[in-house]
This record gives sequence, structure tokens and C-alpha cells, in this order.
Amino acid sequence: MIQFKNVTKKYKNGNLVLKGINLEIKEGELITLIGPSGCGKTTTMKMINRLVEPTSGQILVDGKDISKIDPVELRRNIGYVIQQIGLFPHMNIKNNIAVVPKLKKMEKSSYEKRIEQLMEMVGLHPEQYSERYPSELSGGQQQRIGVIRALAAEPSIILMDEPFSALDPISRDQLQDELIRLQVEVKKTIVFVSHDMDEALKIADRIVIMKGGEIIQSDTPDRIIRRPKNDFVRNFIGENRMNESENLMVEDVMVANPVTVFLTRGLAHGAKLMKQYRVNTLLVTDQHRILKGIVTKEMLEEQYRNEDLTLQDIMKADIVRVQIGTSVVDTVEIMKQHGLNSVAVVQGNGQLAGLVTNSSLIDALLKQM
Ligand SMILES: Nc1ncnc2c1ncn2[C@@H]1O[C@H](COP(=O)(O)OP(=O)(O)OP(=O)(O)O)[C@@H](O)[C@H]1O
Ligand SMILES: [Mg+2]
Repeated sequence: MIQFKNVTKKYKNGNLVLKGINLEIKEGELITLIGPSGCGKTTTMKMINRLVEPTSGQILVDGKDISKIDPVELRRNIGYVIQQIGLFPHMNIKNNIAVVPKLKKMEKSSYEKRIEQLMEMVGLHPEQYSERYPSELSGGQQQRIGVIRALAAEPSIILMDEPFSALDPISRDQLQDELIRLQVEVKKTIVFVSHDMDEALKIADRIVIMKGGEIIQSDTPDRIIRRPKNDFVRNFIGENRMNESENLMVEDVMVANPVTVFLTRGLAHGAKLMKQYRVNTLLVTDQHRILKGIVTKEMLEEQYRNEDLTLQDIMKADIVRVQIGTSVVDTVEIMKQHGLNSVAVVQGNGQLAGLVTNSSLIDALLKQM
């Protein structure tokens, strides 16, 4: 859909601000360009609608070299949303949104209907807002109008340059949600510039991380998190995102009500509990819920024929325990060292608090992401 081939840019008597960009953006894809200030995001984006011309290299849209397309014509098919919104102050909302459809000589009845639909989609009811002027809307509402104005002319490509960055966090979050919803419905090719990694991770199909005029990594959000290409990307994703798991405590990831059994019960009772709760291990406790040991399915089966035994006779008492307050990182290390799939968590007095298993760990870590 959009292809950058070895694109460089040098502004008048300046440095090379783009150093050979190669990028392919697929139809219907929402890609986010992200990177530090001055890395060339806006420059890259503005080349797509020829607000900036490359110094060398080629940009193709639908296989056509855009340097051969009339810029005005090109721009009619590319929606553009910028941070400063750019609504015309002397036009009411309906006319603001209709600017490009009119330029494109679209049928009035069809674009008017479309405008109403779009306004509904972002929660601004036409009967209430159509006749208002931009100054009579909040910043977030103006920004919504900016977004749907870019959609109204049915462009196949939409460029969005930090469109939500001037908004308060709540409006920004809402607009991100709306963009995701809109994108499901209208499926445009969207190039979205951001400097906010959380925003990029939330909305993008693909994230293109730039630095100093170069693309460092271009990948899905998930692969960026899992396999950051280098320390720059790692830092950009945010130390905290990675380290959040270090601040997690074992109590955050344990199952708080594991299957326990009183130590004087017989083996048949233990077997029944295992079957009932589909577990292979029972935590054996005394009347004060002090953890005394564990019994595994194998241990039970081995001794099962001896009807006089109780669980405390066959349990393994010298088991690894971790204390409440141990970090998850240390807990995982302990499990690894002892080759355990699970480990019991106890309080200071030895009372059972919970059980960490591989699956409880994974569940908890997924919730963190
Ligand atoms: N019209 C211009 N003339 C000269 N230099 C420019 C011009 N526009 C941008 N630059 C320079 O090109 C480089 C890239 O700018 P660009 O606006 O693409 O960065 P950006 O990644 O969008 O940054 P930001 O996050 O601050 O918006 C910067 O060093 C900037 O100073
Ligand atoms: Mg910029």
C-alpha cells in the first residue's frame, strides 16, 4: 500500500535527518511511528502526502511513485490529523467535516449521511453538535471532530501526527479506544505518530521505532516487547514495564486457596481429594494450618495398599517453602534451582498462605502486561 524505498531527507543546509528509510505499510494496517523528539517521525509522515519531498529514494502508494502524482490530488485521498486539530474556527462542525467531501465533489446526500454516522460513532450527536463552532467544543471533542473529518472523505490512508498528545489522560484513553473501534469498522491504512509507547502498544498493529533518522525495529507490539532488538528499544519500551515483575511479590502470583488436607487423614481420602480437585499434589497441614509437608500422587500410589497409614506417615516433610514477601523473581529462581513446578508459600509462623504454580505465575504475569 505505502512503500518507502531508501528514502533520505536533508533539509536546506542541514544534516541528513532521514538516513535511508525502507518501510512497507500494508493495506488496512495501523502502524505507529515512535521515537525520540527530532528522530524524523513527522518528516517521514509528511512525505506520504508530499508536504515534504524526499532528497533521494522513492515513495510508492498502491505501486505508484507519488512524485508523479499531483500533490493536491494525492492529499484528497489522504486524511491528515494533527495535534493542533486545525478546525476552521469560522465554520460550524458539520461544514468543517464536509470540507474535503465537498472538494472531492462527493454527492451531498451521501456525505451528509456519512457525517452523521461518524459523529454518532464518536458520541457527538449531530442534532446537538452539527451547528456549533469549534470554540464551543472541548479540546477532546474538537480532537474527535478532527479524527472524523479525516475519515469523512473516505480516504484510503490516514496520517495522524500525535493527534491525542494535547489531551488529558482520560480523554486520550477514550479517543484511543474510539480509534481502535473505528479502525475495526472502517479498516483504513493509518500511519500514527506517537512518542508514547503505551499508546503505541495499545493501538498499533505494528510499531516502527525510529532513532536519529533510522528505523531501529519494526514489529508487532508483542514481538517488540518479547524481543526488543537492542538496549535502545528496551529502554524505550520502558524499564518499568519490564521491571514491574520484579516488584511483584509472591503473594501477588500465588493461588491463595490450594488444596490442603489434615495430616491425620488416610490415603484414600487424599486420593479422593486429588481426583475431586484434579491436582497431583496435596499440601498437608495441621489444625493450625501450619504446613507440614506435601503428598504427591506417586507417593500415594506407592503406599496405597497399606490401609493403616495416614498422610503424615508418607508425606515429604523437608519441602521448599517461600515466605510471604519474597519477590517473584526470587521465587522463580528458587523453583528453578530445585527443579519445582510449584512451591508452597508460608507466613512467618509456618502457616500456609498459598501455592505458586507455573500456571499461577503465567496468569499473574499476563495480567501485568
Ligand atoms: N522544515 C525544516 N527545516 C529544517 N529542519 C527541519 C525541518 N523540519 C524538521 N527539521 C529537522 O529534522 C529533524 C527531524 O524532525 P521531525 O519533525 O521529523 O522530528 P520528529 O521525530 O517528528 O520530532 P518530534 O517528536 O519532536 O515531533 C529534526 O532535527 C528537525 O530539527
Ligand atoms: Mg513530530
